[in-house]
Amino acid sequence: VDRAHAFLADHVQPGTWAVDATAGNGHDTAFLASRVGTGGRVLALDLQAEALASASLRLLQLGLRERCELVHGSHCQLLKHLPEAAIGQVSAVVFNLGYLPGGNKCLVTRPESTLSCLDACLVCCQRGAALSILAYRGHPGGMEESEAVEAWIQRRQKDFARVERAEGLSSDPGKASPVLWLISLL
Ligand SMILES: C[S@@+](CC[C@H](N)C(=O)[O-])C[C@H]1O[C@@H](n2cnc3c(N)ncnc32)[C@H](O)[C@@H]1O
Repeated sequence: VDRAHAFLADHVQPGTWAVDATAGNGHDTAFLASRVGTGGRVLALDLQAEALASASLRLLQLGLRERCELVHGSHCQLLKHLPEAAIGQVSAVVFNLGYLPGGNKCLVTRPESTLSCLDACLVCCQRGAALSILAYRGHPGGMEESEAVEAWIQRRQKDFARVERAEGLSSDPGKASPVLWLISLL
């Protein structure tokens, strides 16, 4: 997460739009909100009301709530939820794939909606924007989802200026490690 935030810090411009595709408890949303500044906006989506309540509380405590729009819905509807003026103006999108920490471990991100949102990112992002995709692979379906993301990245290479891939350490030595892709768009 720290590595993703260091990368995003170089890309998120004050006054722009940023997107948190998997708001969860709001750590990434808060980070993006701190970078877009008072003139920018963050759109954060999550399927779970419980996650959005937690994210909202965090943002309120940090004084960042007013610059964020929290959407209860799937990130596969990203283009529907972004205002028209934001299309082509998004400087960064963050994905933190898997299940909500402390929540229902059966409710996880899925390859179809993740890839559909990734496709939408190529429409709504500005030139040079950043995509940060962190995939946990230790839960059922996690490995398949990370392979689907990897294949999407291969297919879309021509849209990217740079792709960096890193593997982290698993909190449980018996489980697959998380993988992080940091992508700069052309
Ligand atoms: C690993 S958690 C995100 C953690 C978050 N970045 C944080 O700072 O706490 C993944 C989140 O994705 C959400 N999610 C799953 N499928 C989704 C979808 N199709 N659209 C949006 N969010 C989804 C889950 O509800 C869960 O809260």
